[in-house]
Amino acid sequence: MVGVDDVINKLSTVIDPDIKKDIVSMGMIKDLELDSGNLKFTLELTTPACPFNEEIESDVRKAIDELDGINNLDMNVTAKVTEGRALNTDEFLKNVKNVIGIASGKGGVGKSTVALNLSLALAKTGAKVGLLDADVYGPSIPLMLGLKNIVVEADKDAKIIPTESNGIKVVSFGFFAERMDQAAIYRGPMLSTVLTQFLTGTVWSDLDYLIVDLPPGTGDIPLTLAQTVPITGVVIVTTPQEVASNVAVKSIGMFDKLNVTMLGVVENMSHFECSKCSEKHYIFGTGGAQKISEKHNIPFLGEIPLNSGIMEGSDLGKPVVITQPNSPSAEAFTAAAKNIAAQCSIAAAKLQEEMQAETTPTAS
Ligand SMILES: Nc1ncnc2c1ncn2[C@@H]1O[C@H](COP(=O)(O)OP(=O)(O)O)[C@@H](O)[C@H]1O
Ligand SMILES: [Mg+2]
Repeated sequence: MVGVDDVINKLSTVIDPDIKKDIVSMGMIKDLELDSGNLKFTLELTTPACPFNEEIESDVRKAIDELDGINNLDMNVTAKVTEGRALNTDEFLKNVKNVIGIASGKGGVGKSTVALNLSLALAKTGAKVGLLDADVYGPSIPLMLGLKNIVVEADKDAKIIPTESNGIKVVSFGFFAERMDQAAIYRGPMLSTVLTQFLTGTVWSDLDYLIVDLPPGTGDIPLTLAQTVPITGVVIVTTPQEVASNVAVKSIGMFDKLNVTMLGVVENMSHFECSKCSEKHYIFGTGGAQKISEKHNIPFLGEIPLNSGIMEGSDLGKPVVITQPNSPSAEAFTAAAKNIAAQCSIAAAKLQEEMQAETTPTAS
């Protein structure tokens, strides 16, 4: 007779390809019941956006198939995003499981376009997503989402209530600045206060991922994000040209010094995708981000094509992930979003391990 122990042992042979640990010790198997050959359990994945979700599910089915004496498997597959940051250290963002900064060395590389479409792609997998447009010098998310003349609401404690758009919660500096160029008058310490206000003075409620679109470079805002609240990590957006990758490396250096986790690098405008010949043209050269990834040992998260649909969609407030969900551009964003979610799950697993190491007394 097959017993619960046999099932657990068998399931322990299934390894999560990202985290490289078995699914049982990661606590992904829940509510297991075995009754005369009828097996029932819940498989709880670490994010609905994991690139390997289907692979894990099929590995589990295969493993159970190999057990003698199981007549029926009733598996419920769910996902609960794991916490990639220490939650109990900050009162205000305690229900936000992951905070992800989107940074770049210089402006114009498509950081905001990437931040927005990644947020939307994550939300489409079922995750709860917020987007904070913290680019005080050029907040462009309102334009990209077609949000004009937003009246920002506050709750009874005078906290900002985010605006909902396409299934994500949005707060932008642009909602507050009458003229977009107003930010130029803000100086360092004031900028830090503004960011802190947006982070901790907003009712973000329960979020799996809070994406922060940072201003380009290594100024006060990226510094404040890295130092004010625990964050999961940072994603660097770059383009293939050497001028862009050289400055991207400077940003990486700064976050490195601050001990911020590098979730990886996304290459935007990586190649031109011609709708007529469906060939990829590498007009700016190839492999810039890949080289950064190898040299600095940070994950390569994906490449986004240069496509006029992306630009037009941004200008019209109609992001490509929403309006052309099956286009190669949208698929590229979705693939990158899943890789980021996977990196957050890896960060969460590491954090869990560190916390356990701290609480487990070592024999001396
Ligand atoms: N992959 C892409 N293909 C085509 N146009 C793009 C792409 N990414 C960004 N753009 C366009 O490039 C411009 C700059 O992008 P933006 O996201 O505002 O950059 P950043 O935030 O880095 O300054 C915008 O007009 C945007 O629509
Ligand atoms: Mg921008």
